Amino acid sequence: MKALVLAGGLGSRLRPFSHSMPKQLIPIANRPVLVHVMADLRDLGVTQVGLVVGDRGDEIVAALGDGTGLGVELTYIRQHAPLGLAHCITIARDFLGDDDFVMYLGDNMLTDGVADIARQFRADRPAAQVVVHKVPDPRAFGVAEIDENGRVVRLVEKPAEPRSDLAMTGVYFFTPAVHEAVAAIEPSARGELEITDALQWMVSNGAEVRARIYSGFWKDTGRIEDVLDCNRELLDRLAPSVRGTVDGASEVTGPVVIEEGARVVRSRLTGPVIIGAGTVVEDSHVGPHTSIGRDCVLTAAEVEYSIMLDGATVRRVGGVRGSVIGRDATVTSAVRTRCSRLVVGDHSSVEVAA
Ligand code: G1P
Repeated sequence: MKALVLAGGLGSRLRPFSHSMPKQLIPIANRPVLVHVMADLRDLGVTQVGLVVGDRGDEIVAALGDGTGLGVELTYIRQHAPLGLAHCITIARDFLGDDDFVMYLGDNMLTDGVADIARQFRADRPAAQVVVHKVPDPRAFGVAEIDENGRVVRLVEKPAEPRSDLAMTGVYFFTPAVHEAVAAIEPSARGELEITDALQWMVSNGAEVRARIYSGFWKDTGRIEDVLDCNRELLDRLAPSVRGTVDGASEVTGPVVIEEGARVVRSRLTGPVIIGAGTVVEDSHVGPHTSIGRDCVLTAAEVEYSIMLDGATVRRVGGVRGSVIGRDATVTSAVRTRCSRLVVGDHSSVEVAA
């Protein structure tokens, strides 16, 4: 089985970060979402991965390279305009050949993995298999209606009045039967070739489309709140390790990762927390549920339930919570002060008044 990972989307809900990086590279527990996706695929035993990229493809190539370091073999496929998820299958046809494949949206995190669901697909080989998750309000997603045997009877994209609580996650398993469906459908009202329409075409033409319920943690990391929620979830599974240094005047409780060259001085870390390589934390309180990237500076800062990207600085500002502070951004104050939620884009500078 091959994999097709889609990372061409614009990510407008993740502004301001999507102005300066592809949303699939936003770090969760200090690793880009796409790196988590690759690890998940490797766990399925899939190593040949086609990665569909759009305008920001160069940044993705720079971050992931040929995939060697991630244990996969990447083939990049350029999509010149975001013409839909089913369109990605058409442009990936040469790469996919006549193999079965798993299609994985590059902004989706299914942190408990889909290995069992992949095993079921390999054993039963229905024409297609979708991975669904029960949600209280599925109106923002594709919605599957299934019969008592788990066979899909109808699929509707973002229905105003959903007829089931089964949202389609961003993971789909296909046999080559999907190619005929993708060729048969027309663009939707929003001008895209919808994967939901291709699947519905298969159902309507008598192909077997199965739904498997995934009941672990799932997030489409489309919004800042989702990114923070996902970060919390991954940090709750953190395996502690200290490779940096913590001085005798600091106090560490709970699981903490301190990467190489990081220094913690006269500070309190309340895990789960990750402190990236080369970061300096002085006279500060960090955590819980906080990921600090590489080469950050925290001086007299208090940061909890937040993400700081590489090179970010917080000086003399406390009360920072539910925040994402971009690459090389600075949040400072002349005297010690407090603020609360901050979403600060890459390379920005915020001066907090006392
Ligand atoms: C896409 C799919 C939708 C699915 C969702 C999962 O929506 O069209 O069926 O539920 O991904 O993340 P989009 O995020 O492109 O609006």
